[in-house]
Amino acid sequence: MSDQSTPSQTEQTLANLLKEDRRFEPPAALAAEANVKADAYDEAAADSDAFWATQAERLSWDKKWDQVLDWSNAPFAKWFVGGTLNASYNCVDRHVEAGNGDKVAIHWVGEPVDDTRDITYAQLKDEVSQAANALTDLGVGTGDRVAIYMPMIPEAIVAMLACARLGAPHTVVFGGFSADALASRIDDCGAKVVVTADGGYRRGAPSALKPAVDEARTKTDKVEKVLVVRRTGQDLGENGWDDAVDVWWHDAVGSASTEHACEAFDSEHPLYVMYTSGTTGKPKGILHTTGGYLTGAAYTHNAVFDLKPETDVYWCTADIGWVTGHSYIVYGPLANGVTQVLYEGTPDSPERGRWWQIIADYKVTLFYTAPTAIRSFMKQGPDVPDRFDMSSLRILGSVGEPINPEAYVWYRHVIGGDRTPVVDTWWQTETGAVMISPLPGVTAGKPGSAMTAIPGISADVVDDEGNSVPNGSGGYLVVTKPWPSMLRTIWGDDDRYVDTYWSRFRKQGFYFAGDGAKKDTDGDIWVLGRVDDVMNVSGHRLSTTEIESALVSHPKVAESAVVGATDPDTGQAVVAYVILREEAGDGGPEIVKELSDHVRREIGPIAKPREIMIVPELPKTRSGKIMRRLLRDVAEKREIGDTQTLADASIMDLISAGQSTSTED
Ligand code: WTA
Repeated sequence: MSDQSTPSQTEQTLANLLKEDRRFEPPAALAAEANVKADAYDEAAADSDAFWATQAERLSWDKKWDQVLDWSNAPFAKWFVGGTLNASYNCVDRHVEAGNGDKVAIHWVGEPVDDTRDITYAQLKDEVSQAANALTDLGVGTGDRVAIYMPMIPEAIVAMLACARLGAPHTVVFGGFSADALASRIDDCGAKVVVTADGGYRRGAPSALKPAVDEARTKTDKVEKVLVVRRTGQDLGENGWDDAVDVWWHDAVGSASTEHACEAFDSEHPLYVMYTSGTTGKPKGILHTTGGYLTGAAYTHNAVFDLKPETDVYWCTADIGWVTGHSYIVYGPLANGVTQVLYEGTPDSPERGRWWQIIADYKVTLFYTAPTAIRSFMKQGPDVPDRFDMSSLRILGSVGEPINPEAYVWYRHVIGGDRTPVVDTWWQTETGAVMISPLPGVTAGKPGSAMTAIPGISADVVDDEGNSVPNGSGGYLVVTKPWPSMLRTIWGDDDRYVDTYWSRFRKQGFYFAGDGAKKDTDGDIWVLGRVDDVMNVSGHRLSTTEIESALVSHPKVAESAVVGATDPDTGQAVVAYVILREEAGDGGPEIVKELSDHVRREIGPIAKPREIMIVPELPKTRSGKIMRRLLRDVAEKREIGDTQTLADASIMDLISAGQSTSTED
């Protein structure tokens, strides 16, 4: 996609696009007591090695490092060189040794009402030790890979920590993925043991997992043993159990000793591989190692959520099958010794207020979720959340995609009662931890902006040549210096690692994140989404996100997705798919014109969609990301491409059956 406009035109467009002038100052009391204050930015910039060494001191090391960073073989980094530690010890044992064994680590909430379990740090230590002993008996040794394919039950966390304890890298595969996806991941990293469950509860009913593992085993010969948690008690079917391979968790783990002395591993010892999609079909196995990753996860969790482990109750709604679950359910929060909520099911089971009920019941103070969830609650209106007392909340977080200003303001107002800062956290599977985010006690937040790189992180927005763009302009988001929780490589494919992330700006040595972004006139960063989500209409660079936000700011709109479709006149044209709010009914006869005028008003005539389609749902992956590629196929009247990774493939039939409506007046 080439931008044919002159730089000054583009800059003008980007400058005009930004009309958001709302600001939310940190609450005074929070600012006064904040873990991280404004001086941290300068302190970190002045001596980043010293800054990161201080952050690494949060952890317990068996042996201190000799060197903070070895970047001599860039882009292959080594952090805390020569240091040794055990991640599981840091997340569990040390809290027990510090006298906090009776503190609740996990308030687990099953989807069936009243199916709950509280697990203290002492109990967690026992279970992790038992699981480590059981895995050892199943043949898992240091360096062996273990796949984890589990529902959101405590055993999932126990399994991850048991692997970490043994120095056996885990690869957690999201429970919503198919047997094929599971098999290809198992195969790619050569996992010899799979930990799974018979099933988990989703939308009020048991949902099976074990059959997918059985099927995956027909597609790869790597698996030697399968360790199975009995969660739902569902029938495994006639051939659903293989005595030579399958082992019940309650037998193997239940009978194992609660004593397990853990070994310290090198700081660069592999901790886990997390698969994520790239531009080609083959998923990339993102490798994270021990010391740097754990430092990054613990530091950011403390800084971005202003964590007070003695008093906070934290809840992240992500699934452990994604990186957010790794860094902000397992490693960050547990390294920091907080009490957290873990919820098994869907937000609306058995009724729409389930999440808010959990916040009220456990007096959650820190809440972390995704814009897609926030927008779906917006769609339902404020009545449901308004029934619950959520006055315990003090900070709200958002992650996964740009948060539309209206969704941000709704989140802050309806869920946070206008008291809570919203931290819009930008990061990636590859970065391991939050990179760009407001600090809740420092930053005056702007709805829709991730603001600036946190202390210790150096990010910038650059043009095609890698030059920093001036404030008010857009370009590519890059990270300009290595950071402790950075990916170390793509599992088994160093070349792809270098190509994907380090070749675009090789000369400058920048990490290319694959996202477009702009700096506003204050220099604050607005992430515009993946670079391929940036459109070029008549030589003007437009972000799908910006137009989506404009649409969502219309009172009748709940959610929208915008794509750029090839257009003979303008190069690309804007095509919008819109879900209306329930209370708006069918929107009325003028709805398309109304929305089109609204976008024109909010952003300008250039952003006016060529077509607007009112649709019942949007095609989303199981992690909630909108699949714009499919919408582009509809907009360009092409045959619809691969729908395999959609959470619900039938949605595409509904959308392509609908009538598109031109907005030409
Ligand atoms: C997007 C999830 C805007 C971005 C942690 C990134 C965001 C990709 C934000 C990584 C945010 C994540 N604002 N965009 N706050 N957070 N993204 O690997 O495009 O699943 O490159 O990691 O999500 O997705 P991933």
